[in-house]
Amino acid sequence: MTIDYSERIPNNVDLAGNKTLQRALEHWQPRFLDWWRAMGPEGSTAFDVYLRTAVSAESDGWAHFDYVRMPEYRWGIFLSPPEPGRLISFGAHKGEPAWQEVPGEYRSTLRRIIVTQGDTEPASVEQQRLLGLTCPSLYDLRNLFQVNVEEGRHLWAMVYLLHAYFGRDGREEAEALLERRSGDADNPRILGAFNERTPDWLAFFLFAFFTDRDGKFQLAALTESGFDPLSRTCRFMLAEEAHHMFVGESGVGRIIQRTCQAMKEHRVEEPAKVRALGVIDLPTLQRYLNFHFSVTLDLYGAEISSNAANFHTQGLKGRFEETKIDDDHVLAGAQYPILDLAGDALVIKSASAVQALNERLRDDYIKECAAGVARWNRIIQKAGIGFELALPHKAFHRRIGTFADAHVSPEGRVVPESEWTHHSREWLPSQADRDFVATLMGRVTEPGKYANWISPPARGIDNKPTDFEYVRFA
Ligand SMILES: [Fe+2]
Ligand SMILES: [Fe+2]
Repeated sequence: MTIDYSERIPNNVDLAGNKTLQRALEHWQPRFLDWWRAMGPEGSTAFDVYLRTAVSAESDGWAHFDYVRMPEYRWGIFLSPPEPGRLISFGAHKGEPAWQEVPGEYRSTLRRIIVTQGDTEPASVEQQRLLGLTCPSLYDLRNLFQVNVEEGRHLWAMVYLLHAYFGRDGREEAEALLERRSGDADNPRILGAFNERTPDWLAFFLFAFFTDRDGKFQLAALTESGFDPLSRTCRFMLAEEAHHMFVGESGVGRIIQRTCQAMKEHRVEEPAKVRALGVIDLPTLQRYLNFHFSVTLDLYGAEISSNAANFHTQGLKGRFEETKIDDDHVLAGAQYPILDLAGDALVIKSASAVQALNERLRDDYIKECAAGVARWNRIIQKAGIGFELALPHKAFHRRIGTFADAHVSPEGRVVPESEWTHHSREWLPSQADRDFVATLMGRVTEPGKYANWISPPARGIDNKPTDFEYVRFA
């Protein structure tokens, strides 16, 4: 499963053995590069960036680190090794051999799943394209670019599946993936959270923590797929995704650390005084957190969903860690508790488990988010500051599903619209908050220097020191 870098498109799928497919992807490649030049990181061409590149798809030691000139990054097609004799582990086809070709009856559903996943990858690159101009350090700039090139590679992963298994429709979808634009009024990206702006580094780190983690849960569910090429593609993408979430969690952690340090040093607690020290006050961080968490929850879709039920029954998309769950994996007659609205009260009701799979995946996701927030709180606690970050309630600020039209406070109280309007400035970042954070965003590019509002990391990338020259400017 070593990756052939002598090919125009690096791959471990024996692309050279399928000339038609190779030609089709080589035709798409320059269009991808055009998109990258137009919508990838602003002003980054001619930077040498210390990046990791996949050299094998094995789980141990797959990455190689070296300086790469940005547009010359070798985007390629890497699938995890096949599991011989793999069987479908859930749904109506449970126990049958995994499919190596697309079953005709599921063709359009599978294509839709792949396009929806694929669309998020270039979207996040577009959302983050200006952040390099205000990087807090070379270390952070390098991490941003690492995430960006890998999201570009994730697009390649999905485009490979479209080209290899979906004929002309797949090729058309691959073109359309380069045509939609995040936030565009006429031709937006498919999912809401991927049309939001990521204007500053606080937003970026929270996006990487919350929204890349949604990516993890979606990919994990698709790794269970009965369609084996999709499963193997997603398995390798998950290996890359871990770093994106690390960038998010450690980035927010370093902001918290720096804020707490400044608060202690100057003995101030009041947000305005904390801001005057040139660091991000914790209530502002909480409001940003509320925003990113709630828009990401919407990505899981409606609480009750017949699409989600079909995906599972048809063996296309499993549950998170499907094979580790101790049940029949068919969900015959099974129930799952979902949150519902009864007048102005939130109640738990029992629903058909197979209809409630979006809600279940969302719940699995929330558990992992809560663990991360607890780790952030330990940094605050250790500094001796009396403040606690919290995830807002699941029903807070939702635009999709049962709570789309309800007004729910972060604590989970259904409130009248007047109260929502009155308090939303305390609950969500206001323009004034965003303007304040924007004033902190400067560009720090001296090796070993870090912007005032963020602590240096505990250690560097690839065992390099924190003052390593992670990016060299031409
Ligand atoms: Fe991705
Ligand atoms: Fe990611």
